[in-house]
Amino acid sequence: MTQKVAVITGSHKGLGYAIARKLAQKEDIQVVLTSRQEQDGLAAQQRLSSENIQVDFHPLDVTSDASVQQFTTWLQQAYGRVDILVNNAGVNPTMQPEESSLLTVQMETMLATFATNVLAVARMTQALVPLMKAQNYGRIVNVSTEMASLASMSSDYYPLAPSYRLSKVGLNGLTALLAKEFQGTNILINAYSPGWMQTDMGGSNAPFTADEGAETAVYLATLPEGGAQGKFFAEMRKFGGAIALPW
Ligand SMILES: NC(=O)c1ccc[n+]([C@@H]2O[C@H](COP(=O)([O-])OP(=O)(O)OC[C@H]3O[C@@H](n4cnc5c(N)ncnc54)[C@H](OP(=O)(O)O)[C@@H]3O)[C@@H](O)[C@H]2O)c1
Repeated sequence: MTQKVAVITGSHKGLGYAIARKLAQKEDIQVVLTSRQEQDGLAAQQRLSSENIQVDFHPLDVTSDASVQQFTTWLQQAYGRVDILVNNAGVNPTMQPEESSLLTVQMETMLATFATNVLAVARMTQALVPLMKAQNYGRIVNVSTEMASLASMSSDYYPLAPSYRLSKVGLNGLTALLAKEFQGTNILINAYSPGWMQTDMGGSNAPFTADEGAETAVYLATLPEGGAQGKFFAEMRKFGGAIALPW
């Protein structure tokens, strides 16, 4: 059996690790776990191995042209293909008080957040989609948040978190635009909100585990031909199935 190759960015911990772990348990998928710090990724690979779950590992900093280029060259040589890309790596710097309003947020913070949450996804897409096009198969999953839905902007329920939310609005836009570019191909791209999870980013008060948040990613990473294209999904667990959110 030829295994599909799945790349998950920022997957040594949190949601990315949970997605890597779930995908790696599928017989027909070879997971490439990635992290910007080599020792983090190797430790995660070891943790999975102690559960008898085998993954490959390669360092990857999604904000660095050189790192993405080096990773792509390695991937081409090691596997000659990529079937699944989960753009999970993300930052949320909204803990500082000035970051809680668009009137005071630092422009450097905005730039750094966009660099990781939006531009890096464009960089990864430009690097890996040629490999997907070569075999007319690809599944791209962009990890977004329901806080990026324009319909949620006036809600009192969410923190203002302008740099984070606007960057994820950008990510959603990127998803919709790429879906247009992939029309007529078997490359499917979708965004989803994993819900509020107990990770370093989500904190311990979050109601859901990273494992729960990973369910929808696995669903979107393994869509059949003709499956959803250019949609924004809620976490499946909340609704008992795949539900599209308003952009
Ligand atoms: N937690 C939530 O409640 C929640 C809700 C909605 C959406 N999300 C989204 O879910 C995704 C995962 O978040 P999480 O909750 O698992 O947070 P997390 O535990 O903080 O993990 C974030 C991951 O992204 C990686 N990362 C950041 N910058 C990177 C870079 N330049 N290159 C490579 N990796 C990088 C981190 O690596 P380092 O350890 O090296 O920093 C880490 O592995 C994010 O996109 C986030 O926006 C989370």
